[in-house]
Amino acid sequence: MKNFWTQLPKPFLALAPMAGVTDLAFRTMCKRFGADVIYTEFASANALARHSKKTQEMLSFSTGEQPVVCQIFGNDPSVFHAAAESVEGMGFSGIDINFGCPAYKVTRHGGGVSLMRNPAHCAELIAAVCDATALPVSVKLRASINDNKKKITAVDLVERIKSLPVSAVMIHGRSYELPFDGEPDIGMIAAVKRVFKGIVIANGGILSPETAQEMVEATHADGLGIARGALGRPWIFRQIREYLASGAFHEPTWDEKKQCIMEHVKLALETKGPYGIIEMRKHLAWYVKGLPRAKKIREELVKVKTLEEVQRIIMAMPEQELSS
Ligand SMILES: Cc1cc2nc3c(=O)[nH]c(=O)nc-3n(C[C@H](O)[C@H](O)[C@H](O)COP(=O)(O)O)c2cc1C
Repeated sequence: MKNFWTQLPKPFLALAPMAGVTDLAFRTMCKRFGADVIYTEFASANALARHSKKTQEMLSFSTGEQPVVCQIFGNDPSVFHAAAESVEGMGFSGIDINFGCPAYKVTRHGGGVSLMRNPAHCAELIAAVCDATALPVSVKLRASINDNKKKITAVDLVERIKSLPVSAVMIHGRSYELPFDGEPDIGMIAAVKRVFKGIVIANGGILSPETAQEMVEATHADGLGIARGALGRPWIFRQIREYLASGAFHEPTWDEKKQCIMEHVKLALETKGPYGIIEMRKHLAWYVKGLPRAKKIREELVKVKTLEEVQRIIMAMPEQELSS
């Protein structure tokens, strides 16, 4: 099977995985604005190994989104083996293993970032996946995690797994101890780029075209992973691309933003049925974040039940509010 990672332009832009956020509708919007690689939300290896209908539905994707990478979490090599077979059968372009999630529901079962404390076990899990599938295998790590008095870093882990056929590594440049705040450890990402022969994707704190450029220059990463920077701003992919090419970027017009919001709502309804509007509420709040009167508008948007209600509220917003 083709290793799509090596065919991507550099630096490429990836929509990083976000549980509860990167569903089909949101991913489609990010793809339309130029994301080169799309990650799904994480999925339980256990559920995939059992061919859980609910998980398969959660992971549904469209061919237009490809390359789509399915991210799995768990901690049992035999389960990972079965999950990888299932992911390949579903038609994904790649499979990613989560070694970075700090959420208790994942770490309490020994998954996510807690695995970084045991590089040998990480290697077993990766080997099980590589053995099960011809898909390119990638991993997502954090910069570091403390283990008693010792610090285990992304470089330690990458050194341990370098004999395995891992195609790509995404490094979230923050430690387990500072999961989402503070400056990412750019030096650690650059260090991984120096030791890992495959594709390196830098992630953490890329919230603007300027920070994207700083990340590329400081790390020489092959690609950038964008997560929270895309919330309410799926057009950030287009802006980053413009900025990297020309040193300038443009803010979408009010018409473009309005069209984007309404298309997103329609996609959410098409892909999730009436429940799609409930899922959309948080996205709508992100779309208006930071705008004048955002609090009041958000209060209305988080209660919407229909597309028409969204349309009415969004249309009532004067142009300068959304384009400011
Ligand atoms: C709501 C939310 C859900 C996330 N879910 C996942 C996930 O399922 N898998 C994963 O590897 N990382 C997950 N992350 C971490 C992001 O992929 C990313 O590494 C992190 O947010 C740092 O990037 P940023 O500074 O661009 O947001 C999640 C982050 C957020 C904010």
